[in-house]
Amino acid sequence: MKQLFLQLLCCTCAALWLTRAESYLIGVGKADVTGPAAEVNMMGYAKEEQNAAGIHTRLYARAFVIGDEDDVRQRIVFVNLDAGMASQAVTLGVLDALENMYGGLYNENNLAISGIHTHSGPGGYLQYLLYSITAMGFVKESYDPIVKGIVQAVKQAHESVVPGKIHVNSGELLGASINRSPTAYMNNSESERKQYLHDTDKEMTLLHFTDSYGRSLGSLNWFAVHCTSLNNTNTLISGDNKGAAAQMMEKFFTCPGPGPFVAGFAQGAVGDVSPNTLGPFCMDTGEPCDAVTSTCNGRNELCAGRGPGWPDMFESNRIIADRQFQKAVDLLVSASEEVKGPVDFRHKYVDMTNVTVAATNTTPSGTTCPAAMGMSFAAGTTDGPGAFDFKQGSKNASAFWKLVRSGIKAPSKHQIQCQAPKPVLLDTGEMDYPFAWQPAIVDVQILRVGQIVLLCVPGEFTTMSSRRLRAAIRNELEPSLGELHVVLAGLTNTYSSYVTTYEEYHVQRYEGASTIFGPHTLQAYIQEYKEMSRAMLAGSGVPRGPSPPNLLGKQWSLLPGVYFDSVPLGCKFGDVVTDVRNSSIYVGDTVEAKFRSANPRNDLRTDDTFLAVEYLESGTWVTLFTDDDLSTRFIWHEPSRLDPYSTATVRWTISHGTIPGQYRLKHFGNHKTLFGSICPFEGTSSVFSVLASKQATVDIAVTR
Ligand SMILES: *[C@@H]1O[C@H](CO)[C@@H](O)[C@H](O)[C@H]1NC(C)=O
Ligand SMILES: *[C@@H]1O[C@H](CO)[C@@H](O)[C@H](O)[C@H]1NC(C)=O
Ligand SMILES: *[C@@H]1O[C@H](CO)[C@@H](O)[C@H](O)[C@H]1NC(C)=O
Ligand SMILES: *[C@@H]1O[C@H](CO)[C@@H](O)[C@H](O)[C@H]1NC(C)=O
Ligand SMILES: *[C@@H]1O[C@H](CO)[C@@H](O)[C@H](O)[C@H]1NC(C)=O
Repeated sequence: MKQLFLQLLCCTCAALWLTRAESYLIGVGKADVTGPAAEVNMMGYAKEEQNAAGIHTRLYARAFVIGDEDDVRQRIVFVNLDAGMASQAVTLGVLDALENMYGGLYNENNLAISGIHTHSGPGGYLQYLLYSITAMGFVKESYDPIVKGIVQAVKQAHESVVPGKIHVNSGELLGASINRSPTAYMNNSESERKQYLHDTDKEMTLLHFTDSYGRSLGSLNWFAVHCTSLNNTNTLISGDNKGAAAQMMEKFFTCPGPGPFVAGFAQGAVGDVSPNTLGPFCMDTGEPCDAVTSTCNGRNELCAGRGPGWPDMFESNRIIADRQFQKAVDLLVSASEEVKGPVDFRHKYVDMTNVTVAATNTTPSGTTCPAAMGMSFAAGTTDGPGAFDFKQGSKNASAFWKLVRSGIKAPSKHQIQCQAPKPVLLDTGEMDYPFAWQPAIVDVQILRVGQIVLLCVPGEFTTMSSRRLRAAIRNELEPSLGELHVVLAGLTNTYSSYVTTYEEYHVQRYEGASTIFGPHTLQAYIQEYKEMSRAMLAGSGVPRGPSPPNLLGKQWSLLPGVYFDSVPLGCKFGDVVTDVRNSSIYVGDTVEAKFRSANPRNDLRTDDTFLAVEYLESGTWVTLFTDDDLSTRFIWHEPSRLDPYSTATVRWTISHGTIPGQYRLKHFGNHKTLFGSICPFEGTSSVFSVLASKQATVDIAVTR
C-alpha cells in the first residue's frame, strides 16, 4: 500500500520538479554483463567448489553520464557494475573501446567503474594472479561480456543525454548491516569512536536524475554493505542484495519517462560491513563464535554469519535488498536539495609500494610496502569462512603454513619489517612468476558534481578508514566550497583488496591481513586524495603517475572448454524430464519443470534468457518473466564435470499479484555437437493453472 502511494506520489510530484533552467546534461544506460552461467568459479569467496550453475538474477552495468551543459569536456561517467569488484584489466579494455568510439571524451580521468561486490558472479576477469587462482586462471568468457556490457551501457547513456537536474538526499538505514570485525574497530581510539553512533556507516546518499520536464531518468545511491547475503554454497549467478534492490527499484518506477528508469545501488566503505545482521554463530552448536578470532573450538570453518532470513539465505538476500530499496525510494521522493555547481574530476595512478607517509596526531610516519597477504587472510571472514588451520587475529605464522609459504616465496627482510605486525603468508608484491600476483600501481580518483564529491577508491575501505579519508577531504574543500556530500565509492577502477586504519591493521583480522600495502596504506591514500582536492580547488592538474601494466597478454587459463553435449538415445534437447504438477497451484506456491539441457557456456544468451514463464492471454502465449526475475530460478545440473548429459530446472515462485490463469514454463539453450557447431533448442512444460490464493478459494467455496 505504502509502495503504491509512493509510486503515485512519484508520478504526480514529478511535475513539481519542472522549474527553471536545467543545469546538467544527464544520460543513463544499462546493459547485460552476466557471463557464463556454468562451471566458472565465482568471484569473492575464493572457494574452489563454488562454481556457477544457473541464474538467480542477471548482472548489469548501469552507466550514468553527467556533464556540464556548456563545456562538453566537463563530464563524468560513473558505472555501477554488478560484479565482485572493478578490475584493472576491464577498465583498460573499456578505456580502449571508448577511445575508439568517442575520441578522448571518456577517458581514465573521468570514467569510474565501481563494483557492487557481489560474491555470486563469474570470476577470472582480473589480471593479477592471486585474484584468478580459484577460477583456474583468466576466463575470457567472463571478461568479454563485462567489457562489452560496460561499453554498451556507456554508449546508451551517452546517446540518451538530455538536459536535466539532479537532487540529492541522504539518510540513515538501520537494520541492513553490522560490523564483522568489531574487535578491530574497537582498537581505534575511544575519542575517535565517540564521534560516531555506529560502528558501520549507516548513511545512504542518493542522487535523483530528472529531465527538464521533471520526468525521472534514474537514481544512483551509495550504501556500505557486503554483497554476501548469498553465502559460499550458492551457485546461481546473482547481484546479491544490491542487484535485487536495483531490480525492485526499476520495477517500482514505472512512471512514464523518456526511457526505462535506471537504478544504481553502488557500494560504499564495505571493508568490515556484513549483511548478516544476526551475527556469527557456530554451525554445529548454534553458539556464538569466539569474538576475537571468529572460531568455534579453535577452528574457523564452522563460524558463519546469519542474515535476517536465516536459515534461508535467499530470504536474507530479499530482506537486505528490500531495506535498501525502501530507503532509496524514501530518499528519492523526498529529495529536495538541488545539486548545483561545476562538474570536475582528478585522477592519478599511484605506485603504492613505497609511499612515504608523514606522522599524524595518532599514527607514526613510515612508508608503504610491496603487496603482501597476512595469515588471517586465509581464515576468511564470518561471511565466508576460509581455509583450515587459520584464525583471524593471528600474528603468528603456524609451522605448517610457514612450510607451505617457503615453497612459494619467503618474504624478504624488508617485507617482514615493513608489513609488521602482519605475518606474511603470501609475499605477492615480490612474486612476479609467471606475472604479477597483486597490483603495485592503482587508481585514485575524485569526481565532483556541484556539492557532491565522490572519492573513488581502488579497494574495500573499512568504516573508520572511510571516515578518516572523508573528513580529511571535507577539511580541504569545505572552507572554500561550503557544505558538501563527500561520498566514498568502493571497489573502483582497480582492485587492491582492503584498507584498514593503522590501529585496525595491528589487530590483523581478515581486513588487516588483506591490507596489502602495509600499516600506512590508509595514510598514503589520504595524502593522495588531499593532493587531488587541492589541485581541484586551484584549478590545476595532477601528474598522471606511472602507467599500470596491461597483463592481458600474459594470462594463463586451465579452465577446460565445453567438449560436446548429448542426450540419451531416443531423447531430444529440451525434452521434459520432470513435468510441472497440475493440481492446486496457488499464488505463493513454487512450480518447476526439468528439461534435457546443454552447457550454458555454449551461448551466454546475453540480453536474452534461459527460461520463460508464459501466460495465456486471449489465445496467445505472452512472456511474463525471464531468468532475470527474482521469482524465477534457472538451475543447471551436470552429473559430473565434462559429462555430456545435463539437465536444467526452471523454477517459478508465484508472486502475489499474479493473475490466476493458464501458464507454462519454457527452457531455452544451445547445444554443442561433436563437430563443434552450436545449435539452439527449446523445451516447453505442460500447461498448468494458477489459482487465486487458498484463502480466496475457500471464501468462494463457502459463499457457494
Ligand atoms: C549457507 O546458507 C544455507 C541456507 O540457505 C545453509 O544451509 C548453509 O549452511 C550456509 N553456509 C554457510 C557457510 O554459511
Ligand atoms: C623508497 O623510496 C625512497 C626514496 O623516496 C628510497 O630511498 C628507498 O630506497 C625506497 N625503498 C625501496 C624499498 O625501494
Ligand atoms: C606466537 O609467538 C610468540 C613468540 O614466538 C609466542 O610467545 C606465542 O605463544 C605464540 N602464540 C601463539 C598463539 O602461537
Ligand atoms: C591496537 O593498535 C596499536 C597501534 O595503534 C597496537 O600497538 C596494539 O597492539 C593494537 N591492539 C591490539 C589488541 O591488537
Ligand atoms: C492442467 O489443467 C488445465 C486446465 O484444467 C488443462 O488445460 C491442462 O491440459 C492440464 N495440464 C496437464 C499437464 O494435465
